[in-house]
Amino acid sequence: MNVLVIGSGGREHAFVWKFAQSPCAQRVFAVPGNAGMAAQAECQAISVTPPFSELIRFARENDVDMTVVGPEAPLVAGIVDSFEAAGLCIFGPTQAAAQLEGSKDFAKRMMAKCRIPTAQSETFDDPGAARAYVRRVGAPIVVKADGLAAGKGVIVCDTPNEALSAVDMMMVERRFGDAGRRVVVEECLVGEEASFMVVCDGTTAVPMASSQDHKRAYDGDAGPNTGGMGAYSPAPVVDEALADRIMTEIVMPLMKGMAEEGLPYRGILYVGVMVTESGPKVLEFNCRFGDPEAQVLLPRLATDLVPILVAATKGTLHQVEMLWRPEPCVCVVMASSGYPEQYATGYPIRGIERANARPDTVVFHAGTALKAGETVTSGGRVLGVTALGENIRRAIENAYAAVGEIAFDGAQFRRDIGHRALRRIVS
Ligand code: AMP
Ligand code: GLY
Repeated sequence: MNVLVIGSGGREHAFVWKFAQSPCAQRVFAVPGNAGMAAQAECQAISVTPPFSELIRFARENDVDMTVVGPEAPLVAGIVDSFEAAGLCIFGPTQAAAQLEGSKDFAKRMMAKCRIPTAQSETFDDPGAARAYVRRVGAPIVVKADGLAAGKGVIVCDTPNEALSAVDMMMVERRFGDAGRRVVVEECLVGEEASFMVVCDGTTAVPMASSQDHKRAYDGDAGPNTGGMGAYSPAPVVDEALADRIMTEIVMPLMKGMAEEGLPYRGILYVGVMVTESGPKVLEFNCRFGDPEAQVLLPRLATDLVPILVAATKGTLHQVEMLWRPEPCVCVVMASSGYPEQYATGYPIRGIERANARPDTVVFHAGTALKAGETVTSGGRVLGVTALGENIRRAIENAYAAVGEIAFDGAQFRRDIGHRALRRIVS
């Protein structure tokens, strides 16, 4: 089979790395890819925005048998519908099903219909009504832009004034464009967060191992939100009983509800869970793999991924099994100085080969480019330095030992990835 991966980040490099090991995959393509993927895949810069015609032509000309989409934007824009209409096999939800991520209001309505535990919320199209609601219920409270806002559309507010500013910023100033025309205002949940992903074929959902990411820029989970500064799997907070509850109280009712709406969900479903005193509650759904969660899950996946994705597109997932290596995995993201705000790029990166040569270690590239034969920084998140270990502590040590081999000007990374997991194991 020939496989095509859409995207340019660490998550997509993890897909390419996994496919490169598959006896089922002859050629692996990446659009647009990055400097790291170029070692394992044929990379091509092609537009991934509608109507996707050049991409479809590329897939046909290169006999691509299976396309996998990393980021949410093309999914929400309907890439799956376009490929399927062209008779091409693609793994991911249709545009209508991807609304679970593309519209927070849609996700809330589905959760209400399926009686899935989540924060109490109201949706507003009118800023005056949103402000009145904030004044009535008070803080803490969470204001969310309905549409996609590149991970920045959620503001957790400690005071009513902060929430009123968030409403104005989204609905009046339109800082996120049309994504903030409608907002969801919801109850602030308290607990520990975990990422729970499942592979779905429209009927069957197969759970993956659990994981947790670190969204804040600085140590101690301080500083601004980022795309993710690191992750680890498994997440000790998700024990077997909790995983069962997430499947029976959240995933299965949602699968059934989506099918009843005529929107069977195919693809990866990412459930952002808050583990509260009264059980797991949904913070968000994403219609794709997490980044950097993919970087810690795929190295733990003992099974070939290609047959799993084929089964998901054919509706035969009940016949396949996903097996996980017992060793925990940790990913430390090395970013450019200043990320997630202003940062400079173009700095040479040294030591990636030395890091990759360490046992059970793999360096996934995100913002990297090749310049005159040299790998240089080209984005905010630059590398996802990933290692397995016999336990979480060893996995953390291995990942940081690999980080120690790598250097580029202004490299910024957290030194406490995995601290919540360590605390749970020690206590
Ligand atoms: P999202 O973009 O939906 O992933 O939200 C980003 C982050 O905001 C989540 O990872 C949580 O840390 C936080 N968050 C979202 N909704 C809530 C909520 N209802 N209560 C507390 N925190 C929330
Ligand atoms: N790591 C969070 C996300 O992928 O949305």
